[in-house]
Amino acid sequence: MRILSGTQPSGRLHVGNYFGAIRQYIELQEKGHTCFYFIANYHALTSMHDQAGLKDATFHVAAAYLALGLDPQRSTFFVQSDVPQVAELCWILNCVCPVSLMEKGTSYKDKIAKGLPASMGLLDYPVLQAADIVIYDANLVPVGADQKQHIEMTRDLATKFNSTFGQEVLVLPDAHIVPEVAVVPGIDGQKMSKSYNNTIELFATPKETHKRCMQIVTDSTPLESPKSPDQCNVFALLKLFASPAEIEEIAGKYRAGGYGYGHAKKRLAELINERFDSARQKYTELEKDPSYVHDVLAEGGRRAREVAEATMQRVRQSCGLLKH
Ligand code: ADP
Ligand code: TRP
Repeated sequence: MRILSGTQPSGRLHVGNYFGAIRQYIELQEKGHTCFYFIANYHALTSMHDQAGLKDATFHVAAAYLALGLDPQRSTFFVQSDVPQVAELCWILNCVCPVSLMEKGTSYKDKIAKGLPASMGLLDYPVLQAADIVIYDANLVPVGADQKQHIEMTRDLATKFNSTFGQEVLVLPDAHIVPEVAVVPGIDGQKMSKSYNNTIELFATPKETHKRCMQIVTDSTPLESPKSPDQCNVFALLKLFASPAEIEEIAGKYRAGGYGYGHAKKRLAELINERFDSARQKYTELEKDPSYVHDVLAEGGRRAREVAEATMQRVRQSCGLLKH
């Protein structure tokens, strides 16, 4: 099975990214699949026009993935713009893509509603994502629930391309979404997202993590009263980190009363700090050795370009683009 996924370098990675996507990346790699993981810097350009910020976030995502267990010997790990063939394929797919399909994009509509200028890049974002996926003949795309529509659009575009050019040139991918972690809540109870400023970062210090956990929004049920674990943002996050036995135990304490949200928040911070302690140490080491990280990405780029170029030869030939 060929696996592919990408992440935009547009800020610091958070607990939602980890459970919704990164954990699946690593698990699929451990199962021995052929994996392609990349940093979607062309996509980040649709909303970010800050040279230093983009470079910094690209390095952050690269070091973070390596620290969390991405193994560059087993997975091809690269930066999107190191494979310019993907921009070429995006153009070709644009030529079979109805504008109306892009106008239905919920992510596009959300971004416009939030005040981002309606650039061609923003409208075209899903076509570039489709090119990312089909250029590596990917079968399965591990992502959070918010990306479901983009994978459906990819299937639509690959089908359109294949029917237009009369051959099975492009492979249709499936989304790999794990229902229990498809939408991890942020500290305000909405979907955790960089753009909502409600994240708990993976690579913060233990103190910062504790501070952030204490800011999780809860209702005003007094400490001594019984509480409903299923209505609580802190409990929703605890479920991701605690063992099944501890989840049961804490649920019991909620229902019994005498257990405050403060206790639950403190325990959550401890569990987050424990879970990411070794990755944080690795991340700090990688920050001190940027040339290692750049070498990994350069090698990944070389491997990815070979695969992408092979697909492009098929694509160019099928639509009559001659190479001289
Ligand atoms: P953000 O919303 O913070 O900008 P991205 O769009 O960069 O995050 O998402 C990167 C990956 O992490 C995607 O596969 C996305 O589906 C997943 N993801 C992001 N936030 C969450 C969340 N709160 N719950 C589950 N998955 C998420
Ligand atoms: N749109 C994805 C996100 O915001 C990032 C992405 C770009 C991606 N290209 C991709 C994800 C290809 C999966 C496959 O998270």
